Amino acid sequence: MQSHRRLVTALAFTSALAAVGTAATARLLAPTVDDFFIAGTQPTTIVDPIKPSTECAYCHGFYDPVTEPFSAWRSSMMAQAARDPLFHACMAVAEQDAKSSGDLCIRCHSPGGWLEGHSTPTDGSALAGRDFDGVTCHVCHRLVDPVASPANPADDAAILASLNPVPTSFHTGSMVVDPLDRRRGPFELDPTFVWHDWRKSPFHQESLLCATCHDVSNPAFARVGGATPSASDSYAPALDGTSHPTGNKYDMFPVERTFSEWQQSSFAVAPIEMGGRFGGNKTAVSTCQDCHMPDASGEGCAPGFGGAYRDDLPVHDFRGANTWVQKAILTLDQTLELYGPTEVSGLTAQEVNDAIARNIDFLTKASDMELSLVDGQLKVRVINQTGHKLPTGYPEGRRMWLNVKFFNASGALVMEHGSYNPVRALLRAETTKVYEAHLGLDAVMAAAAGMLAGPSFHFAINNKVYFDNRIPPRGFTNAGFEQVQAQPVGAVYADGQYWDDTLFPIPVGAKSAQVSLNYQSTSKEYIDFLRDENRTNNRGRIAYKLWAMHGKSAPVVMDLGTITIP
Ligand code: HEC
Ligand code: HEC
Ligand code: HEC
Ligand code: HEC
Ligand code: HEC
Repeated sequence: MQSHRRLVTALAFTSALAAVGTAATARLLAPTVDDFFIAGTQPTTIVDPIKPSTECAYCHGFYDPVTEPFSAWRSSMMAQAARDPLFHACMAVAEQDAKSSGDLCIRCHSPGGWLEGHSTPTDGSALAGRDFDGVTCHVCHRLVDPVASPANPADDAAILASLNPVPTSFHTGSMVVDPLDRRRGPFELDPTFVWHDWRKSPFHQESLLCATCHDVSNPAFARVGGATPSASDSYAPALDGTSHPTGNKYDMFPVERTFSEWQQSSFAVAPIEMGGRFGGNKTAVSTCQDCHMPDASGEGCAPGFGGAYRDDLPVHDFRGANTWVQKAILTLDQTLELYGPTEVSGLTAQEVNDAIARNIDFLTKASDMELSLVDGQLKVRVINQTGHKLPTGYPEGRRMWLNVKFFNASGALVMEHGSYNPVRALLRAETTKVYEAHLGLDAVMAAAAGMLAGPSFHFAINNKVYFDNRIPPRGFTNAGFEQVQAQPVGAVYADGQYWDDTLFPIPVGAKSAQVSLNYQSTSKEYIDFLRDENRTNNRGRIAYKLWAMHGKSAPVVMDLGTITIP
């Protein structure tokens, strides 16, 4: 176990850093892997190796591409998390900014590789073979519930007891993994089942399983403030070669809070009737799985292998929001610029097109838009129908915006807000409402790193949330979100408000307006940063080239409406 230094040490270290003052150029901070320690199963401690997904495909993947896990999973971003060119480009900059931080990245983007010790060295150069399976079958299905319960498999107690410390905060890849190959899943299988060891695991139907990676914290920073998080807290670098002083995610810097946002929402209290909006056999939805792995009907395995017919087969496509990186991976499979011929995804063009279509469809389900005229102005209301902020998760370069076009009586454009030039990938952001989050460096950290204070894309050393106006989910409270470090910043939402209103003045002569809500996963500003900031390797340029080749992250229209102006 790591020694736990007190917060005081971190603060003393901070003042030492501050004393260094501002240098002319950015400098590499040199934390150690221990600064990025997270409780849970540690590398090279598992007994049975992590199997390649192709070993599961034999039975879980050649019969029905929709209900069987393999093909659906393969076309998800999670399966491609270790091939994702943005991931490699971003990790190179993270390692430049804070040495050893790559260990943190690899833990979630290639959990199998990390468990097998391939995050040494931390720049990812030891990743090979099945490590490129990303968030793979055999990792998810060996995950053990970190919260003991009599309903869990009997082996769990011994597995938890063998860990020091046992994770009590669930985030940032705090995986507890069965050291043996005992595959955990939602079902009680038939007693005659012979194909592999299995355990019925209620954990696999809980959102908490997704919390393992969908609350992302940076343990290299310690929260300075009261006993519970508050909007006035700051985050001091705790780069002292030991693990974080408390190990509690809410004492670390919050990078992503998707799980905590959900936990604070009404979806976590009870299923909400959504009328089948998110597909699948259930119309009332609660967990991440309910929306992202909707239930289908079919055989639990290829016929002839003894799988049962079920109406609650979770579809493994993990539908989300990405609509261009999948194509980039098909290109990388050809060019082999990031991985070798034995590490290609195996994805087909059909699978990629289907996955993109699914994500576009899912994005259109995420929100509703209402247009009205109020006091001579156009009011645009965007309603969040998801189980977390809209948008949620990865804050860097992801955004939503309103495009408003006013037309005169003869249909000619009189004014446009939020125009987007697809050739240059440029958004006129200053003319409209953009929903996004900006993380960055505070003055202390900026001085330590020899950079300017303010919003930045320097993932590994960002320690301040400068802005976050993303729309909260149903059940939002300011106090609750503040406690999980996810309060709005630079925007005001009342308790219970899961929508946002924007007023646009109506220009003279306007007789109608057309409004769209647009989503983009990679902004030009972000991809430029990944290309220009890289001083280590060619990965920033590879990511940029692929982005330019595949539509520059073309915006997806989530809602479209028109209104006539009397
Ligand atoms: C020889 C065939 C075969 C292979 C290979 C195979 N499985 Fe299975 N597996 C099955 C069958 C059959 C079922 C039962 C499905 C049902 O009844 O719903 C099953 C069920 C499961 C379950 C559900 C357990 C539960 O309690 O809910 C999991 C999880 C699972 N397999 C994971 C895997 C993984 C991961 C791999 C690859 C490392 C794999 N399987 C490889 C045949 C196989
Ligand atoms: C991100 C974690 C994750 C990954 C990766 C993953 N699964 Fe699952 N899987 C789950 C969860 C969670 C459930 C149960 C969901 C529910 O019941 O709502 C599940 C259910 C299953 C089941 C039981 C239902 C069925 O289809 O028979 C099988 C079998 C299974 N997974 C196999 C696989 C295989 C094979 C892969 C890789 C091709 C895979 N899983 C990848 C999380 C994962
Ligand atoms: C706790 C797990 C976790 C850790 C640690 C983590 N990530 Fe991620 N990463 C995620 C998740 C989850 C997403 C997807 C979130 C979303 O879609 O909003 C993601 C998304 C990304 C994306 C966007 C990919 C795309 O295609 O748009 C990049 C780039 C990325 N991560 C890089 C990194 C780097 C570099 C590090 C280390 C400094 C890192 N991540 C550490 C879980 C993690
Ligand atoms: C071992 C870590 C891990 C676990 C566990 C995990 N995820 Fe992920 N997830 C990731 C990473 C990493 C990414 C980002 C992949 C990328 O874009 O490069 C991601 C991406 C996603 C995306 C795609 C987002 C997009 O932008 O399109 C969805 C949806 C998602 N995860 C849902 C889930 C759900 C639901 C669960 C629980 C059943 C879960 N994840 C469990 C690591 C994980
Ligand atoms: C009520 C349905 C619902 C629930 C519950 C839900 N999601 Fe989502 N999620 C969506 C929809 C719709 C989108 C697409 C819109 C978007 O990108 O925000 C989405 C987007 C995402 C993304 C893409 C990130 C982005 O760009 O916004 C991730 C990652 C994700 N969800 C993870 C999760 C996890 C983890 C949970 C559970 C803690 C969860 N979701 C619960 C509906 C849901």
